Amino acid sequence: MEIPDWSEDLEIKGVPYIKKSPPGPISEDYIIKAKKYVTSCWAGKQCELVDGWDLPLTVRKVANSLIQDVDDNIYIDLNAGISTMNFGYNNPEIWQRSINIMEEYGVRGIFPSNDYNLPLMINTSRKILETVPKGEIYRVHYACDGTEANETAIKTAVSFTGRNCIVSFMGGFYGRTMGSLSCMAQKAADAQTFRSLRSANIYFTEGANCPNCIFCNDPEDCAGYCVEHMLKDRVLSYQVKPEEVAAFILEPYTTGGLMHPAPEEFIKSVKEVSGDNGILLIFDEVQSGMGRSGKMWTHEHYGVEPDIFTTAKSFGGGVAPLSAAIIKDEIMEELPAYHGSTYGGAPISLAGNMAALEYMQKYKLLDRVNILSDIIEKRFKEWREFDKVYQARGWGLLKAVDFRQSKSEPLIQYKDKVKTKLFKRGVITMGGGQGRYQSMLRIIPPFTIPKYQLETALDIFEDVIS
Ligand SMILES: Cc1ncc(COP(=O)(O)O)c(C=O)c1O
Repeated sequence: MEIPDWSEDLEIKGVPYIKKSPPGPISEDYIIKAKKYVTSCWAGKQCELVDGWDLPLTVRKVANSLIQDVDDNIYIDLNAGISTMNFGYNNPEIWQRSINIMEEYGVRGIFPSNDYNLPLMINTSRKILETVPKGEIYRVHYACDGTEANETAIKTAVSFTGRNCIVSFMGGFYGRTMGSLSCMAQKAADAQTFRSLRSANIYFTEGANCPNCIFCNDPEDCAGYCVEHMLKDRVLSYQVKPEEVAAFILEPYTTGGLMHPAPEEFIKSVKEVSGDNGILLIFDEVQSGMGRSGKMWTHEHYGVEPDIFTTAKSFGGGVAPLSAAIIKDEIMEELPAYHGSTYGGAPISLAGNMAALEYMQKYKLLDRVNILSDIIEKRFKEWREFDKVYQARGWGLLKAVDFRQSKSEPLIQYKDKVKTKLFKRGVITMGGGQGRYQSMLRIIPPFTIPKYQLETALDIFEDVIS
């Protein structure tokens, strides 16, 4: 069934549409006000148009894959709110269906979902688990955002195993609260301010960071050193005994840090080490889950069952925040009530999830992710020949272009300039990277972006980098 396009709400003059070079005068005024009154992550940082992380974008209206700013410029969004908007902004069908679901179940908005039993929660969980391979061996523990889902996973592993250490795989992003943050080694600056509060019981090993690999130059030559020598030897024999380790935590598809799916061998070896040592395997699928990678769940690509996997971002259907740690039954059988979340699993979020899952099925969105992925891949084939493009990579709609002179020479300023130029021409992208390799621009549009808008945005991208 053809997906309806409600971006027409904004499409008066064709898109992108730049009326006033951004940020225009009204935006400038809002930026001054934001700096005075707001202390969000965005306003706290640089919100002038300098080449760098944040864009000085003040939003008036959104529809599907389009964002209109307060100066009437209209942008094509290749970022989808870092995957929170997989189903497009203001999706009218999902919104209406969520309201109907809440009416059907007689619960609106929020509810003390941790205190009483909710049929809506039972039915949503059943529907979610139907999308998971071997869903019958898992249960769903709801929370509000990605970091909270990871905190849940960590607490679950520690409570279940009675062990106190975690081995975290470098390069992944796990969240900004202290437990998840303690597990993060993606950028030294993230750890710096809060070092004294970070847990000392986290040990770090090399993730599947193949484009930045310190062991081999070419994935073709991969000898699995990261698992054989680093994890098994330097970590589990030099630093911490396997029997002290509650869990491994990793992004099987490193998203914001790399946009790179781990090779199958890597995932299988990690699974073997965890299984051999009674260590739980936690996969963070906060960004890569819900269909982004081209399959519903990232671990489906590997045929490996994690003990716990976490999801967030678009999990609430773009209607309300929702995340979950999806945990094996055998673990939950053993645990008393050990963790909760006041707003986790609120009816509005559950309804958003249920409506989104129905929507995905109705419009065969996984097929669409792969169709749009092929459109991008076609361009990537040409872009790989460009001078400054080191790699253009990724599965599904989790893609990035990495600008480097060579493997060890990231072109960060060039990447920032490309991002600014794209913005000025009406295309929104987001940077990313790990360590000193902050050299990629992500291409992660909504699944619902009309093909012609994707093609137009890619034309502009191509023009800027060629
Ligand atoms: C892979 C991954 N894990 C965890 C998180 C944390 O999620 P949240 O910001 O919802 O707490 C993020 C957020 O960007 C993420 O991309």
